[in-house]
Amino acid sequence: MPAGSSFGLLFRVTSFGESHGKCIGVVVDGVPAGLPLSERDVYKELLLRRPGHRWATQRREPDRPEILSGVFNGRTTGAPVAIIVWNRDVDSRPYEEVRCKPRPGHADLAYIEKYGWENWDYRGGGRASGRETVARVAAGAIAKKLLLAAGIRVYGRLAEIGGVELVDPASEPSEEELRAARHSPLRVHDPSLEERVAGMIEEARRQGDSLGGVVEAVAFGVPPGLGDPVFDKLKADLAKAAMSIPAAVGFEVGLGFRLARMRGSEARDPIRKAGGRVIPVGPAHGGMLGGISVGTPIRIRVAFKPTSSIPRPIETWNVCKDKPDVIRVKGRHDPALVVRAVAVVEAMMAVVLADHALRNGLIPANRLGEEHVERIERLWEEAYPCPRWASDCNI
Ligand SMILES: Cc1cc2nc3c(=O)[nH]c(=O)nc-3n(C[C@H](O)[C@H](O)[C@H](O)COP(=O)(O)O)c2cc1C
Repeated sequence: MPAGSSFGLLFRVTSFGESHGKCIGVVVDGVPAGLPLSERDVYKELLLRRPGHRWATQRREPDRPEILSGVFNGRTTGAPVAIIVWNRDVDSRPYEEVRCKPRPGHADLAYIEKYGWENWDYRGGGRASGRETVARVAAGAIAKKLLLAAGIRVYGRLAEIGGVELVDPASEPSEEELRAARHSPLRVHDPSLEERVAGMIEEARRQGDSLGGVVEAVAFGVPPGLGDPVFDKLKADLAKAAMSIPAAVGFEVGLGFRLARMRGSEARDPIRKAGGRVIPVGPAHGGMLGGISVGTPIRIRVAFKPTSSIPRPIETWNVCKDKPDVIRVKGRHDPALVVRAVAVVEAMMAVVLADHALRNGLIPANRLGEEHVERIERLWEEAYPCPRWASDCNI
């Protein structure tokens, strides 16, 4: 019985490691030979989800990746690519209390019920921790780079926080705006939004509370034809990828739930010929019809709940004493995990697209041609620059 730590068919990602274990790691099988890949490439993407800036958890992790296998002379060999990130800043003391008192809103209770109480990893959420997403972002770095062989770029941004919309879902997504969000530590596309968002997060933290929000991710340059009927639709795989991210609670394609509130007469994008291609024009369908890409940008939105770990006390059940109890969650946490989730949504979208690009022959599954490598090397730094706030992406 598979235990759920692997994802994808040809671009197959396996994640391992726990929040307070020795490391987080990923094995990606199915990466074609010839892809130029360095630890810097992975680090550059990991920086986007790294904790330690002002608005995130105070857990200080350097998150320096080590590539253990699958790369020789700076290029992938076709063998599984294994990447490891050591956990350095681990403090498990605040979690002793959690052993007996499952934290409401966390995976604790479900893990106790499923795996038994005797030996569950109660330290920092174990496998259910947001720290596991290091593995996803590392795999996403490979996927993003590979996708450039087909000219596909994937970006994310913060679309909503604490109930405040920062992005109009009915507007055309612009690649420049989305790329600009890479340079914002709060992942907003417009620097003038930063102060407001930072203020909202600070305010929530001061009140001992947290905020939820929505991430938007867009893939540009996706040709028609990715996604397979009927169970392997691109939208179905994107939904699974997105909903597997810890704290994800909702998924939308295009106008998503808004479409459900419209009349049919308002909800269809007309089909026109534009730029030599016949395409639906408008935001309704998010670049897919019948679960297959149609040549316009793929646009998804993922809703994240507010961080459960806040210092306010809440009722729980003491499983050691079998009686009601109260827990006040300690440890270091994100007052708005949605900010760091942007990098994770981008990564998961890239993983799904890389898988489908291989499955549909858009990218050769065995080895890349020199024309692919040339294209990747030309586009990589331009499409995914080192975030400006990071000052340096070298390791
Ligand atoms: C990048 C990231 C960071 C997270 N950090 C925290 C955190 O600091 N505190 C917390 O309570 N939950 C955090 N989470 C969410 C929990 O891991 C998640 O809510 C928990 O595993 C329960 O899973 P569920 O919300 O999907 O049901 C984070 C999630 C992500 C994606």
